[in-house]
Amino acid sequence: QTGMFTFDPGFTSTASCESALTYIDGDEGVLLHRGYPIGQLAEHSSFMEVSYLLLNGELPSADELKTFETTITRHTMLHEQLATFYRGFRRDAHPMAIMCGVVGALSAFYHDSTDISDPQHRKISSHRLIAKMPTIAAMAYKYSVGQPFLYPDNNLSYTGNFLRMTFGVPAEEYEVVPAVEKALDRIFILHADHEQNASTSTVRLAGSSGANPFACIAAGIACLWGPAHGGANEAALNMLHEIGTPDKIPHYIERAKDKNDPFRLMGFGHRVYKNYDPRATVMQKTVREVFDALKVSDPVFEVALRLEEMALNDDYFVEKKLFPNVDFYSGVILSAIGFPTTMFTALFALARTVGWVAQWNEMISDPGQKIGRPRQLYTGPTQRDYVPLDKR
Ligand code: SDX
Repeated sequence: QTGMFTFDPGFTSTASCESALTYIDGDEGVLLHRGYPIGQLAEHSSFMEVSYLLLNGELPSADELKTFETTITRHTMLHEQLATFYRGFRRDAHPMAIMCGVVGALSAFYHDSTDISDPQHRKISSHRLIAKMPTIAAMAYKYSVGQPFLYPDNNLSYTGNFLRMTFGVPAEEYEVVPAVEKALDRIFILHADHEQNASTSTVRLAGSSGANPFACIAAGIACLWGPAHGGANEAALNMLHEIGTPDKIPHYIERAKDKNDPFRLMGFGHRVYKNYDPRATVMQKTVREVFDALKVSDPVFEVALRLEEMALNDDYFVEKKLFPNVDFYSGVILSAIGFPTTMFTALFALARTVGWVAQWNEMISDPGQKIGRPRQLYTGPTQRDYVPLDKR
């Protein structure tokens, strides 16, 4: 009982696990991280502070936050041999394919933190993953555009460092634009964790066997890549560009309602939210802030706003409780900042890594934890005898 609403653990029948990290009420459109509403965290916190909160359960003091940020900063460099690993990919490899490969390859390094029975090893692996993701994602982008990799700069913030490694070049100073840094940091907060979504469940299931923590996160990246999950942000912006102008929207809304048409409104609907995704609300506000800061506009934002308005006034979407989700507006902002659509899901993976490692830690440190073993409803033939080849 929180005085605001009664916590309904109601899914005990279908719950895959117990967790204290994130609470979602899909009907009310509520998302809490360790009890704090996502809207308040997005407004007042930072991605590093939310990372500390998810990992440790409480908001940090100023000293605790400083120590955490310093620890993360000092793990941002990648083993130099991994830079060679990138050279094995085609230049046009999707950044998510590269991230799956490179994060999995971390299992072949850093052996000094993979004894998951040792809490200190678990802590170091978690910090390494959170710290190295921006470097790995930035290097995937640099490799795709044929530009040199930039080493991390310890004088910059977590998000500022990522912006510089992505868009900076050795030939000149890179100026982090504070409004862009703040907007991107807020986008990372909005993607940090989200209860037992498909990729988090993948990480938990892989981790439940005692697998190498880096390999478990690589499994989460693979699952997130799908267009029904984290790949939706890339698909949503591609869809908005395909629609092109507001007058084309009714045609696409009709297609989305047509059961014989596989087309879905990307960035709409959710397995849990049957109300507005509270992250989409913050995301829409952030679009305007970034446009103002960069003095840009993008007609695709008008298409998105109009599409949302028309869908939310369409009986089909109202009846099926389909609202914009976190992926609907994120691409508009990331595109305005300068990211290609192929990097959108890589940024989602970068931010979700803290959620994955926090959920993994919560599971692994539970002494009663057992290997995951989902069961099935068998629909195949009943037992029968073998038929020799000459009798078939
Ligand atoms: C994320 O789980 C998480 O928490 C994920 C995530 C996270 O932070 O980790 O929140 C991130 O993955 C957000 C979701 C991003 N995906 C998309 O935006 C892709 C487009 N959305 C759809 O593919 C769909 O909405 C899903 C996959 C998200 C959910 O699909 P479901 O489970 O089918 O949704 P539902 O049961 O609520 O659907 C009800 C009906 C169905 O029709 P009927 O079978 O009742 O006839 O609505 C239809 C669906 O076919 N429907 C849509 C639709 N989404 C659902 N119809 C048109 N367009 C859509 N987008």
